[in-house]
Amino acid sequence: MNEHIYSESGWMQSLMRGEQPSDKSLREHLLLVHRSHPGFTESCALKCRDRLGRNSYELLASVIDPKRHSHILDLACGSGVLLEVCRQRCGPNSELTGVDMSPEELVLARQRNPHLENNLHVGTAQNLHFIGDDFFDVILCHWALTLMDQVPLVLREVKRVLKKNGVFAAIVDGDPETAPGYADLHKIIYSFVKQQCPNYGGTDLGDPRVREGVSLERLAKQTFTDAEVKIEPMVFHLDATPDVLAREVAGFFYASFVVAPQEQDHMLEQLERFFAKQEKGNRCRFSLPVNKLVVCLSPDIDRG
Ligand SMILES: C[S@@+](CC[C@H](N)C(=O)[O-])C[C@H]1O[C@@H](n2cnc3c(N)ncnc32)[C@H](O)[C@@H]1O
Repeated sequence: MNEHIYSESGWMQSLMRGEQPSDKSLREHLLLVHRSHPGFTESCALKCRDRLGRNSYELLASVIDPKRHSHILDLACGSGVLLEVCRQRCGPNSELTGVDMSPEELVLARQRNPHLENNLHVGTAQNLHFIGDDFFDVILCHWALTLMDQVPLVLREVKRVLKKNGVFAAIVDGDPETAPGYADLHKIIYSFVKQQCPNYGGTDLGDPRVREGVSLERLAKQTFTDAEVKIEPMVFHLDATPDVLAREVAGFFYASFVVAPQEQDHMLEQLERFFAKQEKGNRCRFSLPVNKLVVCLSPDIDRG
């Protein structure tokens, strides 16, 4: 798919040399992937459902209580799906804001949410200087905290711009062992990347502490010392035919965007074969492990 990501990405080049990539190169790498594939997250994430039939955007937005919360920030809003879901939940009088560091993602977010034109900002989660203190009732972050460098700094910024009785909630990667087949799919995709970059996977994108419930809870409690911090592991599912699942899954992993173009078809074939093995009728299942983090700054109030 993207031979140029190899040559342009300092993050990939550091891995190739066996060096620890810098925070700056991580952000540049993410920007490169999103420049060539804006909106890729929503394709799979919108289709995966929990046992109540909700996708993870709807699940995350459910922490908003429209009677009490009007000022909402979607941190790393990407193509703006969650902002749209928040507007449906809160109505037109809500004050919605989106921040993302990728200009290409924000183009899509603006198309989807034209009324938010002035509230969509190019910026990084580590420096929300353009937002005043104690501004938001709720801050949401969908599938992005896992990718960020300096997560303690991000959490401090979240705390600064959140009201004293606010809520911060995020959807992050869950434990692969909780979702049948997920670790195998990960292994298949990474095996193709490793053909070109054997060190890929040794250092993953972002801060590894966000990828485990226990360390994520510890991180959150270090910043939000008096808050109630809850982590809920859950699994989302997508049922489809093997060819559809292979394409959706490949399009969801950052790693597959750095698989060599000539290997893309082989990777898809192998993913398709993996799903075909579990075929019942014509349908197979992709299971996606997720952790839902909820930080309530006033834990006495029940948030459902
Ligand atoms: C996996 S996508 C998720 C996008 C969107 N939240 C969604 O779920 O559809 C990750 C997003 O995080 C953004 N991002 C990653 N690191 C960031 C940072 N440090 N500051 C702001 N945005 C960041 C990327 O540009 C990208 O749009």
